[in-house]
Amino acid sequence: MHPMLTIAVRAARKAGNLIAKNYETPDAVEASQKGSNDFVTNVDKEAERLIIEIIRKSYPQHTIVAEESGELAGTEQDVQWVIDPLDGTSNFIKRLPHFSVSIAVRVKGRTEVAVVYDPMRNELFTAVRGQGAQLNGYRLRGSNARDLDGTILATGFPFKLKQHATPYINIVAKLFTQCADFRRTGSAALDLAYVAAGRVDGFFEIGLKPWDFAAGELIARESGSLVCDFTGGHNHLTSGNIVAGNPRVVKAMLATMRDELSEALKR
Ligand code: IPD
Ligand code: CA
Ligand code: CA
Ligand code: CA
Repeated sequence: MHPMLTIAVRAARKAGNLIAKNYETPDAVEASQKGSNDFVTNVDKEAERLIIEIIRKSYPQHTIVAEESGELAGTEQDVQWVIDPLDGTSNFIKRLPHFSVSIAVRVKGRTEVAVVYDPMRNELFTAVRGQGAQLNGYRLRGSNARDLDGTILATGFPFKLKQHATPYINIVAKLFTQCADFRRTGSAALDLAYVAAGRVDGFFEIGLKPWDFAAGELIARESGSLVCDFTGGHNHLTSGNIVAGNPRVVKAMLATMRDELSEALKR
C-alpha cells in the first residue's frame, strides 16, 4: 500500500471509531454554531485532533489543512493533508447515521491519496492517483448511465450561501424534469464516493470547501467519473462549485444547467 494511504486509513478509522462511539452517547455531544446554519461539535474537534496527531507522528514536516484548525504549516509546503474530520455534522447532531471522515494528500497541488470512511457502515473508500478507486478493497467503476434518463442525482442545498437559493432551485427544477429523482444525503464526501460506486449517477453542489471534496474528487476520478465546475472547467478547485458523475451524465447535466447559471456560478 502507498505509505501515505496507510497513515490516512489509520487516521480515518481512528477518527471514525471515535465518532461512532459518540453517536451512541448523544449526551456527550456538545454542538455549537460557527456561523449561520453552520454547526460544529466537540466530536468534530476531537476527531480532527486524533487525525492530526497520527499524521504528525509519521510526517512532522508536512502541511495540514483541516476544517476546524485551518492551515498548520509544516517545513514542507509541497505536501498538504486536507482533512474533514466529520463530513455531515448536521446529520451527526440529529442522529441521522450518514456521515464520514475525509482525508486527502495533495502533492504540489495534485491529489495523490484519498480516503473517505463511513464509520456507521464500516465502508472505506480509497484511491491512489493512477491506481483506481476501491471500496473495502473492491474496485469501483461508477455508473454506466447513457444520459439523464432514469438517473438518481445527489446534491447539497447551499444552506450557508442562501444568496444562491434561486439559481440553485432553478437548476434542480431543470435537472429534475430529466432525471428520475434526487438525493440530499448531507455528506458531500460520501456523495462523491457514491458517484464512484455508481450508487448515484451524478452530483452537484455550490460552494464546497477543499476538505469537503479533496478526497471524494480523487475517488470519483479514479472510478472513471468526471469532476469539474459548472462550465466543465477546473475552477471548482477555488469556487467549490462542483459537478461529478459518469462523463455522459456530466455532459448532460452541464448542458441542462447552462441557461440557469448566474455569473457567480460560472466560476
Ligand atoms: C457539509 C456536508 C454537506 C454539504 C455542505 C458541507 P460538514 O460538511 O458535506 O453535505 O452540503 O456543503 O459543508 O460541515 O458537515 O463537514
Ligand atoms: Ca462543518
Ligand atoms: Ca464537510
Ligand atoms: Ca466537517
